[in-house]
Amino acid sequence: MSDAVLEIPLASKTMKVLVVGNGGREHALVWKLAQSPRRPKLYCAPGNAGIMSLACCVPIKADDIAALTAFARQEQIDLTVVGPEAPLALGLVDAFRNEGLRIFGPTKQAARLESSKIFSKDLMMRAKIPTAMARSFDRASDALAYVDQQTMPIVIKADGLAQGKGVVIATTKDHARRTIQEFMEQAVFGEAGKRVIIEQFLDGKELTVMAFTDGNTIVPFLPAQDHKRVGDGDTGPNTGGMGAYCPAPLGTESLCMQVTRDILRPMVEAMARLGTPFQGVLYAGLMLVKDTPYVLEFNVRMGDPETQVVLPLLKTDLLDVLEAVVDHRLEQVPVTWHPGAAVCVVMASDGYPGPYRQGLVIHGLPTTEQPSSLIFHAGTARRGDHIVTAGGRVLSVVGLGQTLQEAQLQAYQQVAGISFDGCHYRRDIAAWAIAQ
Ligand SMILES: Nc1ncnc2c1ncn2[C@@H]1O[C@H](COP(=O)(O)OP(=O)(O)O)[C@@H](O)[C@H]1O
Ligand SMILES: [Mg+2]
Repeated sequence: MSDAVLEIPLASKTMKVLVVGNGGREHALVWKLAQSPRRPKLYCAPGNAGIMSLACCVPIKADDIAALTAFARQEQIDLTVVGPEAPLALGLVDAFRNEGLRIFGPTKQAARLESSKIFSKDLMMRAKIPTAMARSFDRASDALAYVDQQTMPIVIKADGLAQGKGVVIATTKDHARRTIQEFMEQAVFGEAGKRVIIEQFLDGKELTVMAFTDGNTIVPFLPAQDHKRVGDGDTGPNTGGMGAYCPAPLGTESLCMQVTRDILRPMVEAMARLGTPFQGVLYAGLMLVKDTPYVLEFNVRMGDPETQVVLPLLKTDLLDVLEAVVDHRLEQVPVTWHPGAAVCVVMASDGYPGPYRQGLVIHGLPTTEQPSSLIFHAGTARRGDHIVTAGGRVLSVVGLGQTLQEAQLQAYQQVAGISFDGCHYRRDIAAWAIAQ
């Protein structure tokens, strides 16, 4: 034996990272964090059957602020990332910060950008950010009188969070009146619909541009597009999202620069001026009207299913980026992207977006890693040796390729091998972009 002293490197403390949420977006976040060369120990609350293989799932609901805070304190979590909007609107970030816990996402005040469409519209108007002309109402009688003078179609939006169901495009005055009554008088969305925005209908193509921001530096993601309607050719009711693709060819480099300059930058500055600086992911839902981007809405977190196509194309270590945002030094981290494309097809339960059955066995899930596809679980649970359905959106199947066409092919090949009773999915994800 040699007498050279064995050099044992000081073990650097393993970082503990908690992801909050249980959908496809959170599975993608956990998957991306698991690639970090820093090998963090991952937790997810509450997670799902897919996330379970990468992270320790803890049975705490995403909106249980007190339990999440207690868990992070006890477990000494070094960084928490919030997936969905509800906990942000409830003040999860504020609660964590009060305890000295590091967390990625906006405060409750900053989250108003998503949790109040009236607040958001007011701020957009004041910051001269291009958006549809709109008026807000807190009395049904005023709203009814207003629509009588307008030409149809017109867009009626509940002020608060309504799980993607609070926007109606009214094609007739009758439809508009009925919507106002449902939202404001019958209160179908409770408090969320008691105040509404009535805005001009914009005709164009939709595009999502998300960006990391630490309140100062803004780093836009590759542009993505989601498919909200349940049926092929954008037919049927709205859903949480039936698929997405990235990069969206509509989002040219010059358009993304324009969006950063005219939309993201003015909003980040407006939030800072208000004394509610924004930190996290700022999501701009855009309508391109003859090449000019108008904001339909801001969200204050990553989109689902856009995240599932954006993160696989992110080259930089996500953990480095998240920490840089939290520590207000995003400027120092170069964020780079892989060439190529990703297409996500959502496999949904029979009946979704209406009522659906749960607990159905999912067949054909690949047991080994595939080179050109990824499967992110959205609504799944484990039952004995089986993975079963546990939500409306069940799986996000992502194909990867050099081109959108290749990625689309990979996604649908993978989808073809997976089944559960009553499963449905759209057959035209990314088709429009590929045809251009
Ligand atoms: N002014 C508008 N003109 C045309 N379509 C709109 C307008 N505002 C919203 N929409 C449509 O309604 C969908 C949902 O509206 P959005 O503002 O994104 O609210 P949410 O995502 O909270 O339901 C959009 O994706 C878009 O298709
Ligand atoms: Mg939206």
